[in-house]
Amino acid sequence: MTNELITVAVPKGRLLEESSLLFERALGVSPKKLLEGTRKLAADAPEAGLRFISIRAADVASYVEHGAAAVGIAGLDVLREDPVDLYEPLDLGIGRCRVIVARPKGAKPLPRGVAPRVATKYVSLAARHFAKKGIPAEIIPLHGSIEVAPSLALSDAIVDITETGATLEANGLVIEEEVLDVSARLVVNKVALKLHAERLRRLIGALREAVAASARDQR
Ligand code: PRP
Repeated sequence: MTNELITVAVPKGRLLEESSLLFERALGVSPKKLLEGTRKLAADAPEAGLRFISIRAADVASYVEHGAAAVGIAGLDVLREDPVDLYEPLDLGIGRCRVIVARPKGAKPLPRGVAPRVATKYVSLAARHFAKKGIPAEIIPLHGSIEVAPSLALSDAIVDITETGATLEANGLVIEEEVLDVSARLVVNKVALKLHAERLRRLIGALREAVAASARDQR
C-alpha cells in the first residue's frame, strides 16, 4: 500500500491561494492550478504522491478526523470552535486574522447584570469567551453577514473574524476585545500518521521549509 496517494483536503475560498503557493514551493504542485477550471472536487498529483480534494474550510477538520483525508489545512478559528482529535504539527503562517468582539462605535457600556446579545457564527468560542469573563451572554447563531446584526438591533455585539478591519469599519463597528489570534494549521489524521509515518514526515518537513522560506521572503 506504500504507493497509494496521500489525500490532502485543501480549503476553498480565501485560504486556497496561499495554501497552493506553499505546496508549489514545497513540492512543485499547486492544488489551485490542478482544481481550477473544473467542477471536479478531486485532482491527483502522482508525481508528488498526493491527491488534493477541495473542501469547504469549515469541513476540512471533519474529513481529516474521519480519515477521508490524511492531511488538511484548517484555520485555528475552525479548529477551536469545534475541537477534534487531530495532530496539528505546523502553523502555516497564512490566513492570518483575528476573532474579535465588536460593538457599534460610541455604544454605551451595557449596564451590569444585563446579558449582552451576541451575534456570531462562532457559537462555542463566543460562549466560552463570555463564560470565562463571568458574563451571561445570550448567543445568537448566524451563518454570515454578522456585521449588520447590531445596526438592526438583533444584537448588542458580534463575535467574528476580521482581517483588514474594512467590514467592521464599513458597518460602524469597533473592536472591543480580542478572542483568538488565527492562522491556518496543517492537520493530520492520527492513524494515517502511523500508517504512512515516513511519507507524512517528509511532507510535513517540506511544508515546514516552505513556510520558513516564505517568512524569510517577507522580511
Ligand atoms: C469574513 C468575516 C468578515 C470579513 C472580515 O467573512 O466574517 O465579514 O471576512 O474581513 P475584513 O476584516 O478584511 O473586512 P468571509 O469573507 O470569510 O465570509 P463569510 O461571510 O462567509 O464569513
